[in-house]
Amino acid sequence: MTDATLEFPPETMRRMGDQVMRRVVDHLATIDEQPVRGDVDATALCRAMREPAPEEGSALEPLLDALFDEWIPRTFNTASPGYLAYIPGGGVFPGALADLIASGVNRYTGVWPTAPALVQLEANVLDWLREWMQFPATARGLFTTGGSMANFAAIVSARERKLGAELRRGTMYLSTQTHHSVGKAARLAGILPDRVRAIEVDSAFRMRADLLSQAIAADHAAGLQPFLVVSSAGTTNTGAVDPLPAIGALCAREGLWHHVDGAYGASFHLCPELRPLLAGLPQADSVTLDPHKGLFIPYGTGAVLVRDGEALRAAHAETASYMPENQGEEFYDPHQYGPDLSRGFPGLRVWLAFKLYGAARYRAALAEKRALALDAARRVAALPHVVMDAPPQLSLFAFHLEWPGATLAEQDAATRELLERVTRRGKVFITGCQAGGRFLARVCVLSFRTRQAQIDTCVEHIAGEAGAIVARARA
Ligand SMILES: Cc1ncc(COP(=O)(O)O)c(C=O)c1O
Repeated sequence: MTDATLEFPPETMRRMGDQVMRRVVDHLATIDEQPVRGDVDATALCRAMREPAPEEGSALEPLLDALFDEWIPRTFNTASPGYLAYIPGGGVFPGALADLIASGVNRYTGVWPTAPALVQLEANVLDWLREWMQFPATARGLFTTGGSMANFAAIVSARERKLGAELRRGTMYLSTQTHHSVGKAARLAGILPDRVRAIEVDSAFRMRADLLSQAIAADHAAGLQPFLVVSSAGTTNTGAVDPLPAIGALCAREGLWHHVDGAYGASFHLCPELRPLLAGLPQADSVTLDPHKGLFIPYGTGAVLVRDGEALRAAHAETASYMPENQGEEFYDPHQYGPDLSRGFPGLRVWLAFKLYGAARYRAALAEKRALALDAARRVAALPHVVMDAPPQLSLFAFHLEWPGATLAEQDAATRELLERVTRRGKVFITGCQAGGRFLARVCVLSFRTRQAQIDTCVEHIAGEAGAIVARARA
């Protein structure tokens, strides 16, 4: 008969833990020597990997060999200090330790009475976020899997509060630069694309409040019910911060919910000296943060804060006879504030990171990322043939290559080629976007591992490749 034992003896668990920890630490100790973008043209490999479920168990080491030698290297190295692509974060080591603890002890943290002290840790962290965003004590929050689900929770709360059953009359507003997760979340929340208005942006890629006002008026005139504006505190394309005070004031006047998607930028609000860059954020009805970006936590941790916490609760709370009683005001009860019942323990990742580092170190790291972006942008803007389309509003800038006589198509192609050639050098990874009618290269500094050395390399590699590309084009 097949052995039915699934528990390992303590000494085996210790040995396996050591084996895994050795691999992870070796990986992190050499992270800056590893290519910033692995070989991802791996279709043949992926096809060859398909396999039936194993009938017999195997040893751990060969599995770790495959993971660490074959599969992990064939990725975008999002943990690399040279990762300046998309929106980085890096993934701090305390997050990994927290995952081991959370999965190891496997307690039930979706419901307060089942693990009150553990849930309290998560409540504490949400409260820290609330204080850093300068939201009132009435605010409540939720850890989600990411910014997308945080946006979803905010949209559902706004919809419940502002529309009730009248879903089809409701219209919402975002900008042409808003992250696509917002439109997707709207659709999931029952707000279909014909009720979502994309407002044009100004020359700094910020939503135009005058056009927003006109769009709201037009929908009112058409008998519709404007209910929500989603602005961005740092767009993914160019890092633009929408005019939050003007949009907030308009929402207050018109009775609309103002949600700020701060998945990229809200964490800069931890630094008092940077708060003016995000003026208006503390007055929003809700904000999305993404600890797996600006708080450098490993992937799988987003967060939402809702100013009127009761709106978040009202959208999600349920009861059942087999469940413990829902908690009242005093103690936070996660399942009443989000769609999940059984869930992991995301709060532990953030809690352990802040307890180990302290908030002061986080603020220093965030301020340093912005300073590094300013330095990089200043030096890149000074290069020949570079046009800076979007100087950093936070820690992201975007630019293109241009030279006399070049057509738009030639400039776009050269800018695309620049990204590819810089990234192929293996030290820094930069990506691009289509914005303002052209293709832009972008540099986003937000990995905690990115320091001055990577910025110097980034500038040097952009300078070298841009010079070569333009010289060839003009020859
Ligand atoms: C501005 C913005 N909003 C939302 C998201 C979605 O967040 P997530 O990928 O954590 O779901 C992103 C992701 O990059 C983003 O940059």
